[in-house]
Amino acid sequence: MHFQWYPGHMTKAKRMMQENIKLIDVIIELVDARTPVSSKNPDIEQMAQNKIRVILLNKYDLADESETKKWKKYYEDKGYFTALVNSKSGKGVRAVNSVVMEACREKIERDRKRGIINRPVRAMIAGIPNVGKSTFINSFAGKACAKTGDKPGVTKGKQWIKLGKNIELLDTPGILWPKFEDQSVGLRLALIGSIKDEILQIEELAGELIKYLREEYPAFIEDYLGFEAEGMEYEILEKYALRRGCLQKGSIADTERAAALMMDDFRGGKIGRITLEKI
Ligand code: G4P
Repeated sequence: MHFQWYPGHMTKAKRMMQENIKLIDVIIELVDARTPVSSKNPDIEQMAQNKIRVILLNKYDLADESETKKWKKYYEDKGYFTALVNSKSGKGVRAVNSVVMEACREKIERDRKRGIINRPVRAMIAGIPNVGKSTFINSFAGKACAKTGDKPGVTKGKQWIKLGKNIELLDTPGILWPKFEDQSVGLRLALIGSIKDEILQIEELAGELIKYLREEYPAFIEDYLGFEAEGMEYEILEKYALRRGCLQKGSIADTERAAALMMDDFRGGKIGRITLEKI
């Protein structure tokens, strides 16, 4: 499998993010807990120099718990403040507030010594498409949030969401596209659905999933298939199509439909809690 992916609007988004970064103290970066490295854009390291850094392992409800623990420690060892979050259900979201405050403790102390008291820290959410930025912002800010900044009638300028007394969140997240020369990074992003399916052949993708699960999560895949995952991946997919009743005219296995079902089930966590990259 070989694919390239570099959307043209990436440059514009990157420029906008560089502008926004100047306004903030802390970057809250979302990564997908199923692929904590591949879903992290490397450009952010350079852009975020001198900023306080928080990494949220989002969608941890879909990832392998023991692997997520290791990744959390991995990022903490690198000096990040971290939290596990399920933005969809809201689990872990509330704790992010105190993680951000903890991350900013030294800065607040420095400010205090300089006579700056009670100035909220300014934060921005960043991450690749589909990692859960909007869902997180909605959950984090909640319904009670108050927008600050612009007065009615003034269209220019940034919108800040006030989160209690201590944090102001920029309401537009920084979008970064994943970057990869390494094909395996692209493959993992395709598997989690961060890269649109149209540019990849869905049966090939399902084949790669079967291959990975067979090695790393054999019990999960066999449970899911309902038979032993032996033989070529394509044969397994054919057998699975018949089992799921995915048939074309003449009772031939509709492997494309079966592959789509399998990918949906995987992305929805129905095959199990699975991590695609391990330390
Ligand atoms: P983005 O702004 O970064 O592009 O991502 P967005 O919030 O739109 O989220 C992308 C998808 O990921 C959404 O699913 C959202 O519900 C889901 N999601 C976000 N955070 C979590 C999480 O922690 N756990 C799980 N399981 N899912 C999460 P969707 O299928 O596009 O929409 P919907 O059907 O859920 O409404």
